[in-house]
Amino acid sequence: METTGTIRLGNENLEFPVITGTEGEKALDTRTLRAKSGYITFDEGYGNTGSCLSEITFINGEQGILRHRGYAIEQLAERSSFLEVAYLVIYGELPSEAQLNQLRSQVTKNASIHTGMRYHFEGFPIDAHPMAILSSMLNSLGAYYPNMSSNDREQDLAHFDETAAVLISKVRTIAAMTYRMKKGLPFVFPDHSRRYTDNFLHMMFTEPYNEYHNDSGAADALDLFLLLHADHEQNCSTSTVRMVASGGANLFASVSAGVCALWGPSHGGANMAVIKMLEEIHADGDDGSRFIKAAKEGKAKLMGFGHRVYKNYDPRAKILGKSAEHVLSGIGIDDPLLDIAKHLEQAALEDDYFIKRKLYPNVDFYSGILLKAIGIPVEMFTVMFAIGRMPGWIANWKEIAENPKSRIHRPRQIYTGPPLREFVKLGDR
Ligand code: CMC
Repeated sequence: METTGTIRLGNENLEFPVITGTEGEKALDTRTLRAKSGYITFDEGYGNTGSCLSEITFINGEQGILRHRGYAIEQLAERSSFLEVAYLVIYGELPSEAQLNQLRSQVTKNASIHTGMRYHFEGFPIDAHPMAILSSMLNSLGAYYPNMSSNDREQDLAHFDETAAVLISKVRTIAAMTYRMKKGLPFVFPDHSRRYTDNFLHMMFTEPYNEYHNDSGAADALDLFLLLHADHEQNCSTSTVRMVASGGANLFASVSAGVCALWGPSHGGANMAVIKMLEEIHADGDDGSRFIKAAKEGKAKLMGFGHRVYKNYDPRAKILGKSAEHVLSGIGIDDPLLDIAKHLEQAALEDDYFIKRKLYPNVDFYSGILLKAIGIPVEMFTVMFAIGRMPGWIANWKEIAENPKSRIHRPRQIYTGPPLREFVKLGDR
């Protein structure tokens, strides 16, 4: 097994150590390349760049494998819960019963937000996007916990356990309050007797004279959805969290930046885009065939398909696809969008264009259908993704903050603008 690799530049052979991960992944450690040669590596989009060593999540995109701290996502989905996986992702081991109860009680205790923050909601226009609200509110939340958001590493780390519980709990409260504010409905206080997702649905949907009851399996389905989103190694938003954390910023500021990065349609916004696409296909009276043709001609993009890392079935999509069907039948909904989605999936999986490019359904393909069945409005979908991804962002922040050797992330670039030129006075231009 190679322990070094060589790059030849002109007549010079430069040797670099090989780093091997626990699953046999290999990297050439080129950190000294520039010092040795003046060259840098160029990898726009970072498809070949390992930005960190991480112990949290392992993905093998070619084989469709996803594991957190060594545990397969399929087993976690079947036997565990969102909070249990959150603990695993953040602390590295499955919790004991006492540890899980401790996390649960910390999360429950922290469900309410400071009354002062209620006034922040009033400052937003009614048509503000929930992701804009979520990002602002998470950053503002830090202002209510100055001890935990000091940007002094040691101090922020000393309060880490509480900060993690505050964020996991309150991201859910803020999300529910955002929904209520936009609907012009009064806020609903958290109910400490309810479990994580049940409490969220209660804060979303309870009416003064009509309390929300979790009797359709929606809370369990939502728990599964959140669990499947808990972490996904160095995706766009998690890399953003690490980038912000690398400068020494506190956890509130770092996850707030993560929310902004998640917002785009190529990342977390895809779950909204999938439903819009399915609705358009339905409104056009298409069963998906015309849309596939348009995608192949480059006139449309099949949202919820393709992934930078998975070149095989996204294992989360398989689990969610089954769950969506189960939830829909449990709630007694016959959603034509599910039929279109299934047809699109089948057609795409048999089509040369998609096979050649290794385009398979990703987690967002079925998650929108599931969320819609639970009653979550489309514009809240990416917020739901953010609630799920919170443990992963927290774990990645912790990895940076606890590493005494971590340096500020500061990539280089290749400048392609004009060379040096003489300044021209305003009147002479
Ligand atoms: N529909 C049709 N063609 C596609 C699609 C798609 N969804 N995705 C990629 N392609 C084609 C693309 O046009 C290109 O074709 P060609 O080789 O002829 O130029 C080829 O496949 C390679 O695509 P790429 O753009 O180089 O792939 P990427 O790794 O840069 O992008 C992606 C990955 C996820 C951004 C992209 O597949 C995409 O936009 N998918 C739809 C949006 C989506 O579902 N995003 C959610 C990702 S999963 C959740 C998350 O982790 O955030």
